Amino acid sequence: MVAVAILAAGKGTRMKSDLPKVLHSLGGLTLVERVLNSCSLLDLERQIVIVGYQGEKVKQALRDRASVEFVEQTEQLGTGHAVQQIIPKLEGYIGDVLVLNGDAPLLRPETLQKLVNTHQTQQNSATLLTAQLPNPQGYGRVFCDDNDLVESIIEERDCTASQKQHRRVNAGIYCFNWQQLAAALPKLSTDNDQQEYYLTEVVDYLDRVMAVDADDYLETNGINNRQQLAAAYDILQQRIKNDWMHAGVTMINSDSITIDETVKLQPNVIIEPQTHLRGNTEIAAGSRIGPGSLIENSKIGENVSVLYSVVSDSEISANTRIGPYAHLRGGAKLGENCRVGNFVEIKKTTVGANTNAAHLSYLGDATLGDRVNIGAGTITANYDGKQKHHTKIGNDSKTGSNSVLVAPLTLGDNVTVAAGSVVTKNVTDNALVIARSRQKEIPDWQPN
Ligand code: UD1
Ligand code: MG
Repeated sequence: MVAVAILAAGKGTRMKSDLPKVLHSLGGLTLVERVLNSCSLLDLERQIVIVGYQGEKVKQALRDRASVEFVEQTEQLGTGHAVQQIIPKLEGYIGDVLVLNGDAPLLRPETLQKLVNTHQTQQNSATLLTAQLPNPQGYGRVFCDDNDLVESIIEERDCTASQKQHRRVNAGIYCFNWQQLAAALPKLSTDNDQQEYYLTEVVDYLDRVMAVDADDYLETNGINNRQQLAAAYDILQQRIKNDWMHAGVTMINSDSITIDETVKLQPNVIIEPQTHLRGNTEIAAGSRIGPGSLIENSKIGENVSVLYSVVSDSEISANTRIGPYAHLRGGAKLGENCRVGNFVEIKKTTVGANTNAAHLSYLGDATLGDRVNIGAGTITANYDGKQKHHTKIGNDSKTGSNSVLVAPLTLGDNVTVAAGSVVTKNVTDNALVIARSRQKEIPDWQPN
């Protein structure tokens, strides 16, 4: 049996933030959510989060996770003190307890699984995750004998100059035999530089404590300041991008690209520089996105190209070309083989196949048919100051440059709108509509 307790009560002074440290966001998820997610391969009996500083906010952030129980640490007197708070909650519990720092968001589920397996097969009192860091600054140092049995853990601020040279560090990730831990916790002292109860001191009271190195030392990174938060984001991004490149996605200048882990890509997608893919975005094979594009919560079909454009909450069908400089948002749905760009904004509008809006337009709350040509500068005037109204444009219709379509309005099929028209009334199929004043010429005119 395994329970997990996550330490999430600290303020995170070094973040210099109003927000508790564990609620800082890393790639769309808070640190504490990421720590909970790292337990996904374990069959957990109980999930306990220890809250304190702005505990209500932490609880609120985890409100959708029904199986999480909370324990309060009203005063933050150290990591050992935090774990002491779960003793009443786990009274009578027999089994192992994983204790995880709430500021270690890069752990892989496989690593935790391995830690628990080692702990159980070796019948240890405690097993802790360690790493050999090129730069161990800021971490507690772990000293072991030749069999990886831990002799002591010394916080950096309590280390002598020579102990500081030691590169094996404590990741703040532990698996304990609960009964032995519960017996050791009351023995903790505050005999250290910070005068806090350190969880790490329990190794002095336990029989068999083993250290296990993480395969990838980057997983053990703790977040104590904004610089480490930024570095963690880069590590996550590298993982996500490497996975997609292995799956057949091409990235050009991958360092300048960011991709949320919720995004789905098919093989043979090409991502160009300075492109950002966010939320529930899906991109089908053969599409080329970027340079310089942001795609958010959108579905993009095969062989689409999106150049220097922003696409959010929208759908684009196969072979359509977007950009440069288009903005699709709020439920824009484009058919196959369309062309949209050069300062065109499309909002909550459905566009049929083979339709073009190639220059300087706003299309909002509209439905366009197939093979429509939207002339440069065409605007759907959809808002009367109170309400939005709909515009419908039939198949094969064309709007001249600088047309204003005042909604509600229906243009039939094969309608032609003359350039510069302000169209306020519905137009029947096959008509030419001219809604502008006639050109008047005054010959030989002189100013007074
Ligand atoms: C801790 C470890 C250190 C390890 C490092 C790994 C101790 C004494 N030191 O140091 O050996 O190398 O993590 O990142 O454990 N917290 C509480 N209540 C408290 C204090 C802290 O819940 O009273 C929580 C914090 O919110 C945080 C976690 O415990 O999520 C770790 O606290 P932090 O202050 O970051 O410890 P470190 O100094 O990083
Ligand atoms: Mg820390």
